[in-house]
Amino acid sequence: MQTKLDIANFPTKIEKMPALSEELQKDIYIKRDDQTGTEFSGNKIRKLEYSLKEALDSGAKVVITCGGIQSNHARATAAAAIKLGLKTILVLRSDTPPVREGNYFLDLLLGADVRIISSADYRERRGEIMREIREESDRKGEKAYIIPEGASNGIGSLGYATAVAEILAQEKETGLCFDTLVVPVGSGGTYAGLYLGNKLYKAGKDVIGFNVCDDADFFRNKSMEIIAESLPYLDNPDVAYGTGDMHIIDGYVGRGYALSRPEELAFLKKIAVADGVIFDPVYTGKALYGLYHEIKKGNLKESNHILFIHTGGLFGLFPKQDEFSL
Ligand SMILES: Cc1ncc(COP(=O)(O)O)c(C=O)c1O
Repeated sequence: MQTKLDIANFPTKIEKMPALSEELQKDIYIKRDDQTGTEFSGNKIRKLEYSLKEALDSGAKVVITCGGIQSNHARATAAAAIKLGLKTILVLRSDTPPVREGNYFLDLLLGADVRIISSADYRERRGEIMREIREESDRKGEKAYIIPEGASNGIGSLGYATAVAEILAQEKETGLCFDTLVVPVGSGGTYAGLYLGNKLYKAGKDVIGFNVCDDADFFRNKSMEIIAESLPYLDNPDVAYGTGDMHIIDGYVGRGYALSRPEELAFLKKIAVADGVIFDPVYTGKALYGLYHEIKKGNLKESNHILFIHTGGLFGLFPKQDEFSL
């Protein structure tokens, strides 16, 4: 397996959600990937430990990446890059002059060079725009390395393949045994990595993703692409994989990416009060809401010992605080 950096707080804790478990009559635990670090909290640092190692090995002095204006990945990249002596250029999507809050505020606080582009440019030309920036940087004698959206590519996803080994070690230590892993799906790398790790380490879990944008088919196909890109990094790339057992549940995107419905926000409040854990409205909140409703509907009968990966995203909560009725 490819080597990585060691800059985050691993292993992340596994904790029970007692009230939620009681209500749903299932064992529900969370893996606290929201506690991987303060500035680079969340899932992205697992991927960045691989991507940024590759950046350093390539001799890069600058990293370029992209995301929405409230991208957790962009903020985590900016924070991690500083520790490695790298500059960060962020290509962020916003159609209106952005308000300095949440992750965007932190990007600026961390001194990242932010370039705002429209959603049309983001959709159609973000790759090209990042390549132009890389050329500009290379011309200045500062070699640049591009990390795609969410670090959701072959190298980045290795971070979640190895997270499965971490989970198996924790199971051994604690005597817990999960039949199901649950995760939000935003750009696909976390799901693809967990799916791959489940195969590599023969963990035998049902890896369930809840997509928070696009649809399940889109992410099954994207996971196939990401896994194909990951294989060359593995010592033994002989892994059988296919869309057939990629369990991605659609139906919880709600009003759209990063848009919330009152019932989703009320659910976040209910969970915060019941179990003292805060989830974010864009990713973990929608996935947990999905898991809750699937179980309430009588689905997921085989899933009784569930580990929900809390992938972080808490800074994205603050720009939405006015939408909550508390
Ligand atoms: C907090 C949080 N959770 C989950 C995800 C989804 O992970 P992925 O992009 O790997 O699908 C993201 C990013 O998209 C995120 O920022």
